[in-house]
Amino acid sequence: MNEPEKKFILIVDDSATNLAVLSQALKTAGYKVRVAVDGESAIEMLEKCAIDSTKIPFPELILLDVQMPGIDGFETCRQLKANPATTAIPVIFMTALADAESKMKGLSLGAVDYITKPFEQDEVIARVNIHWRLKQLTDNLEQQVTQRTCALQQAQVQVVQQEKLSALGQLVAGVAHEINNPLSFMVSNIAPAKEYLADITEVLRLYQKHYPAPPSDIVSKMDEMDLEFVIEDFSHLLDSMQIGTERIKDISLSLRNFARSDGDTASAIDLHETLDSTLLLLKHRLKDQGSRPAIEVIQNYGQLPLIKCYPGPMNQVFMNLLANAIDAVEEAWEKDQRPLNITISTEVLRESAIVRIDDNGLGMTEEIQQHLFEPLFTTKAVGKGTGLGLSIAKQIVTDKHGGELFCKSMAGKGTEFAIELPI
Ligand SMILES: Nc1ncnc2c1ncn2[C@@H]1O[C@H](COP(=O)(O)OP(=O)(O)OP(=O)(O)O)[C@@H](O)[C@H]1O
Ligand SMILES: [Mg+2]
Repeated sequence: MNEPEKKFILIVDDSATNLAVLSQALKTAGYKVRVAVDGESAIEMLEKCAIDSTKIPFPELILLDVQMPGIDGFETCRQLKANPATTAIPVIFMTALADAESKMKGLSLGAVDYITKPFEQDEVIARVNIHWRLKQLTDNLEQQVTQRTCALQQAQVQVVQQEKLSALGQLVAGVAHEINNPLSFMVSNIAPAKEYLADITEVLRLYQKHYPAPPSDIVSKMDEMDLEFVIEDFSHLLDSMQIGTERIKDISLSLRNFARSDGDTASAIDLHETLDSTLLLLKHRLKDQGSRPAIEVIQNYGQLPLIKCYPGPMNQVFMNLLANAIDAVEEAWEKDQRPLNITISTEVLRESAIVRIDDNGLGMTEEIQQHLFEPLFTTKAVGKGTGLGLSIAKQIVTDKHGGELFCKSMAGKGTEFAIELPI
């Protein structure tokens, strides 16, 4: 639509008559024309374009006289082709030198065409039109290649990451499954162990009642082991073993949820459960690390219906966002010891389920926010971040679930990620 804007041609010729005639003809044909009277001033003009091509745009095509005072057209062309900023601009030579050798020389320097003087205006216009069109096609093609290459790189990164995740998922699911058997021995044996302990204690009490004065070696053993303390502590030990095994059971369940093999089928799930399992898996990172206090996670859960989701990938999204939030508050604590807070809130808003993950970390500058979702973009130390977390999260939310992933951040204050999923 802005074509006339862009049809910009540079004519370099030392003859004022030629410049006037050509300019007029090209303007009539719809081109914008700039002129230069020798090679040096043409190069100078193009250097200005290179400084800020939004203000002074590069020409789409250069009509270049061969015989000029100062550097001639051939040398001008050689310099333009040697400069990466101008090498792609097509050059058409104009000259009275119609011999084959001059033509060959011009073409070998990278010119796209050759017009001999005196020229026919119609022919010049026709050639300019063709080369202008060719230039447009080349530009378009280059742009498409860049876009496709970029898309391909993204796809590749994602395929590799997804393969890794699925291998990891299988491993995790396998381990969780293997833990389950030995775990269930423990879970199911603690209750009878408690009963046995109660029975043995009762028998002991009966002995004590009926034989209040046992032989001295029994008395000394009872003193040595502090029998009363052991009887009382034993049941506490069993209680804490019970709590421990319950926890392992929860973790194993979360691991299995997390690595759900049904990643490729959507099912109606309770997002709060998914969030809770992810939090459980991150517990080791949330707790007091000695070097810093525990991170407080505030769960402001609202009412959410079951949401049709791919549970495995959705776990992955929560995991990536929460891991980033943990990194962010840790970094902020190191800087100014502010309290470490992450808030997860959920609600239904306009036919969508919203999950917000807020942190009071250091936030991000505008500059970082612009690149946030690009694959491989990271500000973290080498080996700490791969820069894939958010690009994968975004892809899972938008492409796989038809939702949206938004980020609001204030440098120094904190960040909020909002996941919006259609109900
Ligand atoms: N909650 C947040 N607060 C501040 N900066 C963040 C937050 N989340 C993401 N970022 C910024 O965005 C960048 C990209 O995040 P992303 O999760 O994609 O990669 P990463 O965390 O660096 O690496 P990984 O692939 O291990 O997740 C981070 O390096 C960080 O600079
Ligand atoms: Mg991350």
